[in-house]
Amino acid sequence: MKYEEIFARSFSRHDQNRFRSGALLACFVILWCMCTVFKPYLGTLPVYPEVEKTTLICDTSKPRYDSCEMKGDVRIQGNSSTIFVFSSQLTNASMTIKPYARKGDESAMESVTTFTIKSVQDKPETMIKCNKTHNVPAIVFSVGGYAGNNFHAFTDVIIPLYAKSREFNREVKFLVTDNRLSWSRKFHELLKKLSRYEIIDIDHENEVNCFPGVVVGLGKEERKELHLESVKDFTSFLRSSYSLDRSTTENLTNGLTKKPRLLIVSRSKTRTFVNIKEVVHVAQDSGFEVIVTEMNANLTRVSQLVNSCDVMLGVHGAGLTNMVFLPENGVLIQIVPWGNMDWIANTYFGDPSKAMGLKYIEYKISQGESSLIDQYPLNHQVLVDPFSIQRKGWGVYKSIYLDKQNVTLNITRFKETLSRALEFLHS
Ligand SMILES: *[C@@H]1O[C@H](CO)[C@@H](O)[C@H](O)[C@H]1NC(C)=O
Ligand SMILES: *[C@@H]1O[C@H](CO)[C@@H](O)[C@H](O)[C@H]1NC(C)=O
Ligand SMILES: *[C@@H]1O[C@H](CO)[C@@H](O)[C@H](O)[C@H]1NC(C)=O
Ligand SMILES: *[C@@H]1O[C@H](CO)[C@@H](O)[C@H](O)[C@H]1NC(C)=O
Ligand SMILES: *[C@@H]1O[C@H](CO)[C@@H](O)[C@H](O)[C@H]1NC(C)=O
Ligand SMILES: *[C@@H]1O[C@H](CO)[C@@H](O)[C@H](O)[C@H]1NC(C)=O
Ligand SMILES: *[C@@H]1O[C@H](CO)[C@@H](O)[C@H](O)[C@H]1NC(C)=O
Repeated sequence: MKYEEIFARSFSRHDQNRFRSGALLACFVILWCMCTVFKPYLGTLPVYPEVEKTTLICDTSKPRYDSCEMKGDVRIQGNSSTIFVFSSQLTNASMTIKPYARKGDESAMESVTTFTIKSVQDKPETMIKCNKTHNVPAIVFSVGGYAGNNFHAFTDVIIPLYAKSREFNREVKFLVTDNRLSWSRKFHELLKKLSRYEIIDIDHENEVNCFPGVVVGLGKEERKELHLESVKDFTSFLRSSYSLDRSTTENLTNGLTKKPRLLIVSRSKTRTFVNIKEVVHVAQDSGFEVIVTEMNANLTRVSQLVNSCDVMLGVHGAGLTNMVFLPENGVLIQIVPWGNMDWIANTYFGDPSKAMGLKYIEYKISQGESSLIDQYPLNHQVLVDPFSIQRKGWGVYKSIYLDKQNVTLNITRFKETLSRALEFLHS
């Protein structure tokens, strides 16, 4: 794309640092020479022009997100979602960016604000003036898209934000677009740990905010969900943010002084456990202390509850995202409903749980355990060929398999799963 060429012309921070240290070295050499050879002329050191520090680098090559990083004189007119970078080193150019990490997913991206980035060659004085000048850089991100969903909040926003903001050591301001009060309230504890400043609702800023640097758009390097290179650092960051005691499950081989705790994530409208009472009983008989909850308390409470447990069990769904609070070596049991769901089950929770240092058990339900057999004749496409429904699109697929399916666990088989979980805890 054309604008990438234009923006690539500004030099990177790395190059600048090299340039600066090169200049410094040259200074020392000159100083040394003057001191030793031309002592009388020490006062007439040559004056070097100040190196201007403007950079604007945009990357649109990533599969999940676009991002632009600017350093120098950056001015944001929040209410028009426009960002100006001023520098004689840049050409006049303009590009747009949506700061949310589901690029290519139209239904997610349609509710994400588009920012326009303009690089301007002229002198700032002739252009838009600063009303507020900040002395730390800013990160612009959206909490639109799917961010209202717990899973997406973590994978699309919190994890990329954590990964990017660490380098600033809390000396960064968060400019949130498409903000919802409930969202920033829910994640307040975490945001506070990543930035020492109040978040700014940038869409409602009528004044021009000026920063020494701005990052717009965040994402992960890979397509993997709930993932980053050092995901265990992330879970340990969560534990410290919420003051959670347990970094790993206790060593249960020493005489089982305490019963292991099993948390059952219940749901009330869809993907519910029809025989929850039996499920609880068999788990208690297997030696667990059982807690059943819907996970709709605030994150402080949820994180404490999850962290106090050793095993988390639930039907595929956003509630399982709370596995991020489990102690290491804890066990996640995912109940996978009928409907050819192996790929999403693994991608969303199976693989991520293993990367976090958890043990993972998948319990794929049989046709007989699905409420779909009460809704469709046994030879119906929905039961015999879920793949054909998948081909009709996500909306159709979701409306059947995710929105209208409950599960009745086969207690005999489930008991075997619980034994495996216990073995994991004892090993
Ligand atoms: C760059 O843009 C500014 C502001 O829009 C304009 O005043 C100026 O003439 C432009 N410069 C060039 C070289 O096009
Ligand atoms: C943004 O705010 C400024 C200052 O209050 C106002 O002049 C301008 O019209 C606003 N722009 C938009 C797009 O609302
Ligand atoms: C921002 O600064 C400009 C130029 O100094 C001024 O005209 C404008 O009224 C200021 N806007 C606000 C909202 O204070
Ligand atoms: C758990 O306890 C057993 C028996 O005391 C011991 O051999 C083992 O090293 C312990 N494991 C951990 C991880 O502490
Ligand atoms: C979370 O809920 C608990 C109890 O319901 C309450 O004491 C606490 O203040 C809440 N925390 C936040 C951050 O809302
Ligand atoms: C699933 O269970 C919930 C809660 O009992 C119920 O409201 C819903 O109608 C059930 N759905 C189906 C498809 O059976
Ligand atoms: C329940 O699971 C057990 C063990 O896998 C199996 O033998 C039995 O046939 C299942 N019961 C039903 C009703 O499918």
